[in-house]
Amino acid sequence: MILVTGATGTVGRVLVDQLLEAGVPVRAATRRPDAAGLPAGVPVVRADLDDPDSLTPALDGVDAVFLLSTGPDLPRHDANVGKAAAAAGVGRIVKLSSGRTGDPAADDPIPAWHRAGEQAVRDSGVAWTMVRPLGFMTNALHWAPSIRRRDTVSAPYGQGRIAVVDPVDIAAVARHALIEPGHVGHTYTLSGPQALSPGEQTEILAEVLGRPLRYEETSPEQARAALLGFGVDAEMADAIMALRATALESFTSIVHPTVEEVTGRPARSFADWVRAHRDEFA
Ligand SMILES: NC(=O)c1ccc[n+]([C@@H]2O[C@H](COP(=O)([O-])OP(=O)(O)OC[C@H]3O[C@@H](n4cnc5c(N)ncnc54)[C@H](OP(=O)(O)O)[C@@H]3O)[C@@H](O)[C@H]2O)c1
Repeated sequence: MILVTGATGTVGRVLVDQLLEAGVPVRAATRRPDAAGLPAGVPVVRADLDDPDSLTPALDGVDAVFLLSTGPDLPRHDANVGKAAAAAGVGRIVKLSSGRTGDPAADDPIPAWHRAGEQAVRDSGVAWTMVRPLGFMTNALHWAPSIRRRDTVSAPYGQGRIAVVDPVDIAAVARHALIEPGHVGHTYTLSGPQALSPGEQTEILAEVLGRPLRYEETSPEQARAALLGFGVDAEMADAIMALRATALESFTSIVHPTVEEVTGRPARSFADWVRAHRDEFA
């Protein structure tokens, strides 16, 4: 039995589908089972990573855990899962971390939280695999409203390139790590096949969607204000903006062969991703 935490989120939801397709018994964790919207037939368990007591029943009979944690509390949440998993006799934890955790120069909050979370998982004594993706292709969904309204992508750091990765590929790497031998103790940094600036992503969006689109560079202050407008709290908005600024550094533009090495098929391109999400920009 695999327990998927973050099962209602971007990566976890795809992972649940992939495990179902592979015929692997899966249990989905969420804080709100009634609102989870998970596929019929998937056992859903209420678990809050902030509440250790909720983790014990969620982990009962579980062989491997996909650990998805987020925000400033994630080091404590990862420690909670590590301790509960060790007590439950879980065989392995596959933690979704962040690519820049592996950049020794990265001292902004998100890689720092994940470094502490990874350490808590290692300290738990449970066998582990770290999955460290660079930026998600799905972040481009934030541009969907302005594409729909004004045929425009507004984003800061126009000179920065990120080797964005499809969450379908992130989930696929996690799936292999959860169910196959040979992945314990590995740290997998994941990218897509190409580093792209927001302007280059705009060109690909325009080509696939079949209409002209414009890229306009916004200031970091405008981008931060937009995050606050989406309801993101100030601490998280600052952490996200510190991460976005690192698009200007070469680390985020490195293309890694890991998706193909682990899954046996090439990483999906941004054009593939846009084709799969065309309706969301229509
Ligand atoms: N976006 C990027 O470019 C990027 C790049 C690299 C790494 N990452 C990392 O990816 C992770 C985010 O992944 P995602 O985008 O797939 O997540 P997401 O879509 O933001 O979803 C967050 C998930 O976490 C669950 N959750 C939140 N707080 C929880 C708690 N206290 N207890 C239990 N579950 C909780 C939510 O479940 P419920 O609400 O149903 O409980 C939800 O399923 C973060 O660790 C981030 O640092 C992101």
